[in-house]
Amino acid sequence: MHTVTTRPIEGQKPGTSGLRKKTRVFMQPHYLENFVQSVFDSIGGAAGKTFVVGGDGRFFNDRAAQVILRMAAANGAAHVIVGQGALLSTPAASHLIRLNKTDGGLIMSASHNPGGEDEDFGIKFNGPNGGPAAEGLTDRIFARTKEIAEYKITDAQDIDLSRIGETALGDMKITVVDPVTDYAALMETLFDFDKIRAMIADGFRIRFDAMNAITGPYAIEIIENRLGAAEGSVVHGTPLPDFGGMHPDPNPTWAHELMDTMNGPDAPDFGAASDGDGDRNMIVGPNVYVSPSDSLAVLAANAHLAKGYTEGLAGVARSMPTSAAADRVAQKMGLPCYETPTGWKFFGNLMDDNRVTLCGEESFGTGSNHVREKDGVWAVLMWLNILAVRKMSVVEIMQDHWQTYGRNYYSRHDYEAIETDTANALVTDLRAKLPDLPGQTIQGRTIATADDYTYHDPVDGSVSEHQGIRVIFDDAARFVIRLSGTGTSGATLRLYLESLELDPANFDRDPQDALAGIIGAAEEIAGIKARTGRDGPDVTT
Ligand code: G6P
Ligand code: ZN
Repeated sequence: MHTVTTRPIEGQKPGTSGLRKKTRVFMQPHYLENFVQSVFDSIGGAAGKTFVVGGDGRFFNDRAAQVILRMAAANGAAHVIVGQGALLSTPAASHLIRLNKTDGGLIMSASHNPGGEDEDFGIKFNGPNGGPAAEGLTDRIFARTKEIAEYKITDAQDIDLSRIGETALGDMKITVVDPVTDYAALMETLFDFDKIRAMIADGFRIRFDAMNAITGPYAIEIIENRLGAAEGSVVHGTPLPDFGGMHPDPNPTWAHELMDTMNGPDAPDFGAASDGDGDRNMIVGPNVYVSPSDSLAVLAANAHLAKGYTEGLAGVARSMPTSAAADRVAQKMGLPCYETPTGWKFFGNLMDDNRVTLCGEESFGTGSNHVREKDGVWAVLMWLNILAVRKMSVVEIMQDHWQTYGRNYYSRHDYEAIETDTANALVTDLRAKLPDLPGQTIQGRTIATADDYTYHDPVDGSVSEHQGIRVIFDDAARFVIRLSGTGTSGATLRLYLESLELDPANFDRDPQDALAGIIGAAEEIAGIKARTGRDGPDVTT
């Protein structure tokens, strides 16, 4: 073991989900080491502790894992559980942290961002509950990176992570586990595999696009091997360091291959995609795209049909920019419903305190209290379980849902890689306008409220300010504007759009048409196109 003298490196501030930078930034001398040591220092040291380590397999994942192991050993950790090949999906890592009652874990991923030497890398710390570090801890980690003077690391050859079993590094025990086994066993406890298997045996066809990222091995084992879907139902199923050039973000823009298949002549009954680290999901049926906000609402309304949820839900939670479709379900079912800022970490307290069972975000995340991360494969299995029990198609489920609860038309428009100054000025100017907006009528709608969202955590009393600007009209339509906390170049401005439709005659509209009035009002008030000079969004969900 030796102690290396270092100096603070600027900019190691964790964002919405851990520290994310260009891979080459992480590959600079001391960069990863400074951050990992700051994590250990911020949790009261690593001595005697047990951690889970794994990542989504992107470029530098294997190198980073070796550094983390050497640093954990040097810092006196007792035991590290690591996925074979240093691979673990984010939800599987969360599960292992909980299952083994560890002190947390280090997950290497930049989630849905592209991978490769010239693309993105990331790392985050999850606590003993399996969830992403809360803001208090990430603030401490960042503060530590600004004063760090040394880190500890062991000199050692690479540990062989290709073989399952026990090994050691000095006094630290290392257990290499199959990344899929424990996770698949958990899924079997939550869902009725027999019913799904029977549906598939009956001819139900699935296409799961793993986008050359981490969910390939999970989906092949569960969907093909255990549930009996035909070989080849999982496409792009081998995790590659550069995701084969794919941008592993499961939305209609980046998962366009899947969209083409699902909108084509020989569409299977069910399509789904997941992201780089396996926590996101997109659900599609033949010629029907399920918006993530709607997916959360459908899961909330039907979860009791799956065996892990037969007792019903304690409550549901959604991020503020996510549509209120889930709220309508909660209201009808008499369930508590919570609104939180963007970022899965905000759901952790609500789940730990047993206030909610299901959570979801418009950013293609849905999950439950089975782990403390959102979970792409879980969402797919929940959908399959519901389809198997209700014996309806995806489009029938959606239509039935809207008939019962009304339809919250929803879309998100992303303007990517905007100059940071332009984006900040837009938000600052909009914030200044807020007090004058209520009462104004814009494009035929009157503004009811306009504010900059502040969250008061009902469990620990913490307060998070500036979580997105919302302009709400008196017919419950609204738009929200916030800057992404996960990008790595320039600023990404997100415009979230929603309107409520209760007339069944209007349930089959194109969301962009249904939302045209709100889109126009947002432009009139915020001037995104005018100020950025863009013709339209880069990504539309
Ligand atoms: C990650 C987080 C999510 C969040 C999403 C979008 O996936 O885990 O909780 O909703 O990023 O965040 P952003 O700040 O880019 O809108
Ligand atoms: Zn992800």
